[in-house]
Amino acid sequence: MSSPTYWDNEAYVSAHLVNEIFERLMPKREPHYIWQPEYKVPNMGNKKVDFYIEDRLRNIEFFIEVKSAKTKIDGAARFQLGEYLRNAKMRYGLLIDPFSIEIYEFLNGQITLKTTYSITDPTDVESAVLFLDHFLESTKMRTIAINASKGGVGKTTLTVNIAYELARMGNRVLVVDLDDQANASLTLGVNKAEEFERAKTAEQYKKLLDSFKGRKEVIGFMKSAATETDHAIFREHIYPAMGGFNCGELEKGKIDVLPSSYLTKPAEITESPSAYRLLDKGLRCLSGDYDYVIVDTSPNLNRITWNGLYATQYVVVPSQMEYLSVFGIKNLLQNLGDVQEMNNNLRGKPLGIIPTMIENTTLHQTIRKFLEEWIPDVPLLQEIKGSTHIGNASHLRKPMSVHAEKGNNPNAQRAAQQFIDLTVQIVNRIDLLERN
Ligand SMILES: Nc1ncnc2c1ncn2[C@@H]1O[C@H](COP(=O)(O)OP(=O)(O)OP(=O)(O)O)[C@@H](O)[C@H]1O
Ligand SMILES: [Mg+2]
Repeated sequence: MSSPTYWDNEAYVSAHLVNEIFERLMPKREPHYIWQPEYKVPNMGNKKVDFYIEDRLRNIEFFIEVKSAKTKIDGAARFQLGEYLRNAKMRYGLLIDPFSIEIYEFLNGQITLKTTYSITDPTDVESAVLFLDHFLESTKMRTIAINASKGGVGKTTLTVNIAYELARMGNRVLVVDLDDQANASLTLGVNKAEEFERAKTAEQYKKLLDSFKGRKEVIGFMKSAATETDHAIFREHIYPAMGGFNCGELEKGKIDVLPSSYLTKPAEITESPSAYRLLDKGLRCLSGDYDYVIVDTSPNLNRITWNGLYATQYVVVPSQMEYLSVFGIKNLLQNLGDVQEMNNNLRGKPLGIIPTMIENTTLHQTIRKFLEEWIPDVPLLQEIKGSTHIGNASHLRKPMSVHAEKGNNPNAQRAAQQFIDLTVQIVNRIDLLERN
């Protein structure tokens, strides 16, 4: 065993403790992890923090400041780390010495201690690795886009119902609406759907439309990401879901919405090398806030839709079982292949195809079989049958599960069960992919 006096040296602690721990958690040789020792803290002149670390698998970045057995984590070290986090607008920071690890969070202008860990023997890093892995997992946000190159296949209906079922399971869910038709934002109660329905004159209608001009929404969120990293700025664009989608009373889950409107135009995003990564950058500043981010996309593959694909780890593809829709899937999978290639396979993985609006006809069955043979590596997930109950629920802006609670109609309950089964299947499939 090494002589205890070695631990009096910060460089030794960095090389033997911090390095050992993080080599196991996030090996430097793997492209998903970025380590920058002696990192110049933004807005602090020449001040350097011991490490800047980015984990692109879990969407988290943080600073580490190292202390020795002699210098130890003390009030001055905590103050200094706090200043680094504040000035760099960095959310998480770690203090590590041979005796303990402290994890701090900078949020809403406050620095708080999230959790601590006592190191019993600095040469035995295994339990410290487990502790940090647990913390990092707790900040992890799973991101899923619902995308199809065809309109009216049930993308928005899936988005809102999957979001609801995830929230009911206790997850914190963010729905991102990237479609200028804003159907998800209307359904989730943040786009004045009721006021629009009540508007009687063209003037009232125009006034309602104008009210979106000053509102912060998804375009502003993306534009902010070009220059900002401050969590508070991104949160200003997000609103709690309302109406049938307010999960407040239900267990501990919740749904928030990053809405769109008719102002969500691709031309708002100016072409630049980073124009496709704005949503990704912005969402990364929210890691720790949500368990799942569900992105509803428009059927047009424009710059905003590309942002959705670049920002999400997984993509589910709803499709009607018709020959033309099925051919569109091949194109989409090719595009997703490009996204994966550009992002070290961290974005744009097709999770599965969801057969939607299924009627029990022989044609549907034939196409299903054809798809299974033609695209063997992307599984077909739980199908959603064509149902007037589903149409009615979305017309009433309610999750299918809530709509089915009333009336005791077995067909409505079966329709709701499909969304529940599909959501469980999606979660299980991601669990499986993450384990491998
Ligand atoms: N399984 C279903 N059975 C019957 N009707 C459905 C079903 N799924 C969705 N619908 C209805 O079909 C219409 C289109 O669905 P939705 O808006 O979800 O499709 P979309 O793919 O998001 O469309 P767009 O491409 O225009 O955004 C809606 O009126 C919706 O209520
Ligand atoms: Mg839609």
